[in-house]
Amino acid sequence: MAASIYIVTSIILLSFLDFISCQAVPIKVCGSGAPGYDVGNLTARIWTFEGKNQNCLPVNNTIPPTCVFYMGLCQRLQMPPICSDSSVCQSSPANSTFYKLAAYSSDPFYLYTVPPGFTTKFEGGEIINSTGTGGKTCQLQTQINFQCNSNSFWPKDSQSSLIPHSPKIVYDASKCSYNITFDYAGACLKIEPSTPVTQLSGGTVLIIIFVVSLFTYFTFGAILKLARGHHGKDVIPNSDFWMMLPVYVADGILFTIRCGKVPQRDYDPIE
Ligand SMILES: *[C@@H]1O[C@H](CO)[C@@H](O)[C@H](O)[C@H]1NC(C)=O
Ligand SMILES: *[C@@H]1O[C@H](CO)[C@@H](O)[C@H](O)[C@H]1NC(C)=O
Ligand SMILES: *[C@@H]1O[C@H](CO)[C@@H](O)[C@H](O)[C@H]1NC(C)=O
Ligand SMILES: *[C@@H]1O[C@H](CO)[C@@H](O)[C@H](O)[C@H]1NC(C)=O
Ligand SMILES: *[C@@H]1O[C@H](CO)[C@@H](O)[C@H](O)[C@H]1NC(C)=O
Repeated sequence: MAASIYIVTSIILLSFLDFISCQAVPIKVCGSGAPGYDVGNLTARIWTFEGKNQNCLPVNNTIPPTCVFYMGLCQRLQMPPICSDSSVCQSSPANSTFYKLAAYSSDPFYLYTVPPGFTTKFEGGEIINSTGTGGKTCQLQTQINFQCNSNSFWPKDSQSSLIPHSPKIVYDASKCSYNITFDYAGACLKIEPSTPVTQLSGGTVLIIIFVVSLFTYFTFGAILKLARGHHGKDVIPNSDFWMMLPVYVADGILFTIRCGKVPQRDYDPIE
């Protein structure tokens, strides 16, 4: 009875220890990300790029010579009043007019069916009077594609948010839809680690071996002690040590949580 309580406590404490580690928590990409690709720089900041002439939406029925696009991948653009909570936004020179090209999406990335590369689909833009629809309104939507070019880096630490490579911009006025294609080094396939998720990790195997050994030890130890006529807690092999185990384990946890920075009471520090 007492033995099984100790076994269970040990298992729980060991599983707990398996979860705590001194490593940094990996950065989480929004949604499912783009497995196998490097989207880290894309999602690190808000990026801008420039459009010219027919790639810009009209202001007061006149197409301006230039416009600026703002793009937030896994980041919300907050440019009120029009571009609040959006993913892609267009502004005309001197910010006189804004167009919300797409609403914010928390899961924007899709893989190309034919690799390499990935894309994003954004919907829920502003409803506009498009010249291309014969006076009807349509809702702006934006697709942004990232194709592999191993020389196209987007340095996330750069001073300017301007993307260092001009994209190919296609605007379909009849559907109010933008199709924008970038070159990006992170859109070339990375070699993926070949560890299938279904396999047991080394730590899990060790824990299983440990639990089985512990179980064998207690079962046979108790049978032997019973056979020699012991009773009560004396049936547990080395009962004094096991009574003290929770104290040892608690010490171990404290040591692990503090990443070994706290000097221990009695034992030598682990090098
Ligand atoms: C557009 O027209 C409105 C009035 O119709 C005017 O107030 C505004 O300044 C114009 N915007 C630009 C960028 O010319
Ligand atoms: C336009 O607005 C954006 C965001 O509000 C701002 O970062 C940028 O400096 C503005 N540009 C101009 C020319 O005012
Ligand atoms: C679109 O045009 C119609 C008529 O010209 C106007 O009544 C409406 O307010 C316009 N809508 C937008 C979103 O500009
Ligand atoms: C990401 O940004 C870092 C730091 O600016 C840069 O060194 C790296 O080349 C960039 N990677 C890509 C794929 O653009
Ligand atoms: C968008 O552009 C890409 C690259 O030019 C093309 O492969 C794709 O078919 C286009 N998508 C749409 C919806 O037009």
